[in-house]
Amino acid sequence: MDVFICKDSEEASRLAGEQIIKQIRANPALVLGLATGSTPLRLYKELIKACQTGTDFSRVRSFNLDEYVGLPSDHPKSYRTFMNDNLFSHLNIRLENTHVPNGMAHDIPAHCAAYEAEIKAAGGIDVQVLGIGSDGHIGFNEPTSSLASRTRIVTLAEQTLHDNARFFANASDVPHYAISMGVGTILEAKQCVMLCFGANKAKAVKGAIEGGISQFNPASALQMHPNTVVYLDEAAATDLQLKDDYRWASTHKPQ
Ligand code: PGA
Repeated sequence: MDVFICKDSEEASRLAGEQIIKQIRANPALVLGLATGSTPLRLYKELIKACQTGTDFSRVRSFNLDEYVGLPSDHPKSYRTFMNDNLFSHLNIRLENTHVPNGMAHDIPAHCAAYEAEIKAAGGIDVQVLGIGSDGHIGFNEPTSSLASRTRIVTLAEQTLHDNARFFANASDVPHYAISMGVGTILEAKQCVMLCFGANKAKAVKGAIEGGISQFNPASALQMHPNTVVYLDEAAATDLQLKDDYRWASTHKPQ
């Protein structure tokens, strides 16, 4: 795991953006795994800026981590709407090349299996963007999710309902179920890029990076991934024991 402690979320998003844009320029048909929430918003602004200055997204394909069950794709709070509004509509990406699970699927297990098959047919995810929940979730893989889990319907933890209430008019509007890629699905991405910002993530970040690998903190499964880069702001890095070592390593990388 490569850990970068950045001055702030702006610097972290810029560095993550530069690295992803470089990969799109090298492989214009890159397959991106994408996340929602407030964390990746600055990163998405970097991608939009890159598109405006000539990076071509017309062959890029994408798969989102998750979607609320019960919200139609055109619902203002669906993750499809979030992605269209905050990223896709500002890029020259083809909407048919963007994939978000369908929260209204009649046969959810069949839809989940088909989603996994589509990822496979695309050649797998090249770069998976991740945030982290304050409880250590990645995607909507809440604590005690199997580290081998695949795309499936999940029950959101009470903590997540509480954390996500800020996006809805009433706390009771937050859907209780979602379709989420599994931890096992995420671990198959060729590279994972996790962004973690803010003091409320410090405990989860500590568990993910320096704790034992445990389904109690699903993000800790990334310790088993051979190519994961974590970009933190100072606040999210507060509880890390080896902060100085990460800073040393990140400024002394081989060329
Ligand atoms: P946030 O959520 O970016 O809104 O903090 C992250 C997550 O729950 O994965």
